[in-house]
Amino acid sequence: MTAPMLILKDIAKSYPAPSGGTVEVLKSIFLEVEAGRSIAIVGPSGSGKSTLLNIIGTLDFPSAGSVFLEGQELGRMGEVELAAIRNRKIGFVFQQHHLLPQCNVLENILVPTLISRSESIQIAETRARALLDQVGLSPRLDYRPGQLSGGEQLRVAVVRAMINQPRLLLADEPTGSLDRAGAESLADLLVEMNRQQGTTLVVVTHSLPLAQRMDRIYTLVDGALVPGNP
Ligand SMILES: Nc1ncnc2c1ncn2[C@@H]1O[C@H](COP(=O)(O)OP(=O)(O)OP(=O)(O)O)[C@@H](O)[C@H]1O
Ligand SMILES: [Mg+2]
Repeated sequence: MTAPMLILKDIAKSYPAPSGGTVEVLKSIFLEVEAGRSIAIVGPSGSGKSTLLNIIGTLDFPSAGSVFLEGQELGRMGEVELAAIRNRKIGFVFQQHHLLPQCNVLENILVPTLISRSESIQIAETRARALLDQVGLSPRLDYRPGQLSGGEQLRVAVVRAMINQPRLLLADEPTGSLDRAGAESLADLLVEMNRQQGTTLVVVTHSLPLAQRMDRIYTLVDGALVPGNP
């Protein structure tokens, strides 16, 4: 039997508060996501959704508890191994999308391929052009992020996260700055990626329509994940 894509075992996370003491953001998080499934995490602003996504994506570390990706415990890995997992297995759509301002759309999307050197840049470029076409950005290939609208930047960030065909895609509020039609077509893209390529999705969102397109919804309340939405 293959290991689940993701297991979180009793994850806690606290931060030092600026005024002294600590803030306990995550208290006891348990989660298991089988490969190929999709889940949404909802919850109020400040409840710890981005914190949790960063921990799953190996960008931050829990104060306690363990994260397993395909059976491998992240806490037991060194930085080199973690970087390899980040580049090869995980795609990340950030709440602030972190596009490189000096690179145009196509170049931004090819950054993960250049880093991981997992395949030829020509093959990745063909896929990049097809994905950009799908999200309506073909006319913007040579634009820089500063010349794009917020929603266009977001779509570039989503395509960038998909370009290496990650096994796990983590998306933090991926429809935040989109209008209804834009949000719907982005949700279509995520669902299609999940169905066609078996990409496991963990999507953090305030949007109920997007959350409802995932297999399961969890709500983050008082530092714990509860199945369902409030
Ligand atoms: N580096 C940090 N140091 C101290 N506190 C932090 C730090 N990062 C986050 N926090 C606190 O942790 C809490 C959770 O933040 P987080 O960004 O995970 O929330 P969120 O659920 O993603 O909210 P939103 O829906 O607004 O994006 C917040 O109260 C925030 O102030
Ligand atoms: Mg957040």
